[in-house]
Order: sequence, then structure tokens, then C-alpha cells
Amino acid sequence: MTTEELDYTIRQAAPGDYDAIIAVVDEWWGRPMTGAVQRLFLDHFFDTSFVAEPANSSNQAPGSVVGFLIGFHSPGQPDTSYIHFVGVHPEVRRSGLAGALYERFFASARSAGRSRVRAITSPINSRSVAFHQAVGFTVSERISAYDGPGNDRVTFEREL
Ligand SMILES: CC(C)(COP(=O)(O)OP(=O)(O)OC[C@H]1O[C@@H](n2cnc3c(N)ncnc32)[C@H](O)[C@@H]1OP(=O)(O)O)[C@@H](O)C(=O)NCCC(=O)NCCS
Repeated sequence: MTTEELDYTIRQAAPGDYDAIIAVVDEWWGRPMTGAVQRLFLDHFFDTSFVAEPANSSNQAPGSVVGFLIGFHSPGQPDTSYIHFVGVHPEVRRSGLAGALYERFFASARSAGRSRVRAITSPINSRSVAFHQAVGFTVSERISAYDGPGNDRVTFEREL
């Protein structure tokens, strides 16, 4: 599969997508990540999460996930939606897929009356920082121990 061959469709996620997602996260992130993607996110936030699948690739089995976004409309911050995780198959990066997943989520957030989207990442994830800057997020300084001792983070925020 190459970027040129890729024609994908983006649909709302379903709880059953968890198994396909958890199977690829370590490979896509290049480090152990399964501990950050629990089944609860698909069970409870599937209706605000999205999955991209190849539409007509001869080299890829129909139904294979090539990208996903897990997000939700914050119960505690009524103006805010939050993106927990986004991932794109390494072979189809830089084709606009993550940007398309974000646009779907932004539309969902606007429909839910939200005016702001937030996310965080690890400071070592320079790809994530570059991507979020490119799609209009402001990026914080590195925040020491944001997620507890040893877990520094940078935060992202974008007005809708
Ligand atoms: C970060 C990630 C989701 C981006 O997905 P993607 O589909 O390649 O992103 P897009 O094609 O929509 O990129 C949009 C823009 O973001 C910027 N960008 C994306 N990846 C970049 C990179 N590796 N380096 C620099 N800029 C980058 C570019 O400006 C890009 O536009 P361009 O290709 O026209 O220059 C993908 O690299 C990924 O899955 N990484 C591993 C998982 C991860 O770290 N997720 C984020 C933290 S939860």
C-alpha cells in the first residue's frame, strides 16, 4: 500500500474497533503504547471517535484500520472537546489523513456546541507537536510531571 493507492473512508468508530486498534499502536508509535489505550475509550467514547479504512485498495483487506482518532466532548468542561489519541499507519503518513480525522472531530465538537479542542503529548513526540502546530493548535512549554513523576507533557489548544 502506498499513499498514491490509498483511498480511505472515515466513519464513526464502534466498540468492536478496539481490537484492531490495540493490535497496531505499538508498531505505529514505535514504542510501547498499549497501556494508554484501554478498551473503555472505545466502549464509552466510540460515538465521538473515528476510524479510517481503505475504500478500494487491492493490497489491503477491507476493514483494516489505517487511521483512528479517539476523542470525547468533555463532561466537566462544557466548552471543550478533547482528543486522547490519534494514529495513522506509517505507510500513509503525510497524506492528510490525520488532518481529515481532526476535521471530522472538529465538526462533531461544533455540533455539540464546543468552542475549543484540547490534547496533550509527550515532549519527545516531535511528530505530534509538528502536526498539531500545522493544524492550528497552540503548543505549551514542556510541563514537568504533568501526568505524575517522570511524565512531562506539552499541551495543545485550538479554538474552533
Ligand atoms: C502525528 C500523526 C498522527 C500525523 O498523521 P499524518 O496523517 O501523517 O498527518 P497529516 O498528513 O494530516 O499532516 C498534516 C501536517 O502536519 C505536519 N506534520 C505531520 N507529520 C509531520 C512530521 N512527521 N514532521 C513534520 N511535520 C509533520 C505537516 O505540516 C503536515 O502537512 P504536510 O504533509 O502538507 O507538510 C502520525 O505521524 C502518527 O500516527 N504518529 C504516531 C502516533 C502519534 O504520535 N500520534 C500523536 C500523539 S497521540
